[in-house]
Amino acid sequence: MILETIISTIDKSGNVNFAPFGIKKNKNFILISPYIPSKTLNNLTSTKSATVNYTNDAVFFVNSILGKKNFKKKKCKKIKGFFLDGCLAYDEVVVEEIKNDKIRPTFKCKIVESVSNKRFEGLNRAQFSLIEACILATRINFLDTKKLMEELSFLSKPVEKTGGQTEKKLWKKIEKFVSDGIKKKKN
Ligand SMILES: Cc1cc2nc3c(=O)[nH]c(=O)nc-3n(C[C@H](O)[C@H](O)[C@H](O)COP(=O)(O)O)c2cc1C
Repeated sequence: MILETIISTIDKSGNVNFAPFGIKKNKNFILISPYIPSKTLNNLTSTKSATVNYTNDAVFFVNSILGKKNFKKKKCKKIKGFFLDGCLAYDEVVVEEIKNDKIRPTFKCKIVESVSNKRFEGLNRAQFSLIEACILATRINFLDTKKLMEELSFLSKPVEKTGGQTEKKLWKKIEKFVSDGIKKKKN
């Protein structure tokens, strides 16, 4: 199973970076597989640690895609790094093994601390749609435009039906990001 998370890493100077990543979890281990190139990959390689933040709040996913990643953060307990303020829970991890690959290396990370912050208040379909739209936003250049537009239209329905004001505003932003991306692709 793949879990969609927000990963925070730091570079050698201590600057934090947040980015959405799908991870695999098995007991005390987490697998992170970043495509080359990415900042998360560079940071994992140089500092050998990360924080895997669990959240159902789509605002973190959408804003990451829009490049607005100046999220509030707090210091981790066991590793030199930060967790996402407002996340439900997080795992602090250290890299134990790197499986090199020309396209997508895999970092096998050991969980050294697990913290729960907030109660999970239940599933919302609009948030699911927003996270799916974020995935589409990262694939504008690879997916067929017609298929992309169809999927986006399908995903908009749960937002209309089940989203609150926040989800509806986020939807407009990610929809615009995708349609701007499509226009750039055509030109
Ligand atoms: C929900 C979600 C899951 C993602 N999972 C991955 C992943 O597993 N591997 C990957 O390379 N990119 C993944 N991405 C795309 C990265 O978030 C994206 O490439 C990002 O720009 C990397 O940021 P960074 O360069 O700051 O590390 C995912 C995006 C979303 C929205």
